[in-house]
Amino acid sequence: MVVARSDKPAIILAMLDTKMIIARNREVIQKKCRSLVITITTTGMVTIAWAGNAKMALSCSCAMCEIRVGNNLTAMLRSTRDMIMERSTVFAAIRYRRSVREYDPRPIEDWKLDILLESARLAPSSTNSQPWRIIVVKNPDTRKQLSLATPGGINHHYWMVDAPVVLVMCAIKSNVQKFAQLIGKNYHLVDIGIAGEHVVLAATELGLGTCWVGWIDKKRVRAILGIPAQAEIVCLIGVGYPKNGAIPVSEMTDQFAAVEPRQENGEIGIGGIAANKRKSLEEIIFHEKVNA
Ligand SMILES: Cc1cc2nc3c(=O)[nH]c(=O)nc-3n(C[C@H](O)[C@H](O)[C@H](O)COP(=O)(O)O)c2cc1C
Repeated sequence: MVVARSDKPAIILAMLDTKMIIARNREVIQKKCRSLVITITTTGMVTIAWAGNAKMALSCSCAMCEIRVGNNLTAMLRSTRDMIMERSTVFAAIRYRRSVREYDPRPIEDWKLDILLESARLAPSSTNSQPWRIIVVKNPDTRKQLSLATPGGINHHYWMVDAPVVLVMCAIKSNVQKFAQLIGKNYHLVDIGIAGEHVVLAATELGLGTCWVGWIDKKRVRAILGIPAQAEIVCLIGVGYPKNGAIPVSEMTDQFAAVEPRQENGEIGIGGIAANKRKSLEEIIFHEKVNA
């Protein structure tokens, strides 16, 4: 596969076999290369067309684009967005992550756990209050007790017996956060959400599955772990190797190539788990103002 790339709108490099075409966007260039006709317009629009096969004609208009030409003369024009989305391990982790509820009981390496905790520590927080306090539970008996103190369905969260680590995410409110509550803002909860998701995404990148657990009997969790009254128990996060294995995110990024870069219903992620349906961007994003 031949790959050509340009990071400047003015110049687009297209390497086709051994030929290189350089176009400056002051002029419209049309080049013939074997059976391909490449047109590069003043706006950076690139079109590759194959004579006699309309299906193979592709075009894109982007400031930065990449042209890949395979041996079988299929070509993909990749926009900046697509390129970044397919190479970013952050985005790959976001897309590959699933809530894992079946675990292989093997322990997590200490260095991986360190990275998870460091990811939480570095999270942003309102007025930099860093309200998070995290209890790392590895003891199998305690995990079993926690699973029974999380009343989510018939089995509660019985998978915590296998997940080698359960992180109990607590918050200690700062004075500013207590004041914010007077105007109805629970920033300490927002902060825990951010820190927890840092953990979850870092875990995904390391090939670990996670599951947030919000359905908890706080009284029981408090008693089991001896959590002081001033700490609010927000959520639990189970962490461990998914029972059905996982591909590291670095390898996942390759597999995402050439796919519409969104988590789609049914797409398989960590632990071989299909994606849950997501709302469309049209349903959740409003530009400039909300339509009347
Ligand atoms: C704050 C929060 C609380 C959650 N609580 C639970 C829970 O108690 N039990 C559970 O099985 N999943 C829980 N989840 C996981 C959600 O069910 C899951 O994220 C959602 O269905 C989307 O699926 P996905 O994570 O696989 O994409 C929770 C997620 C969040 C963010």
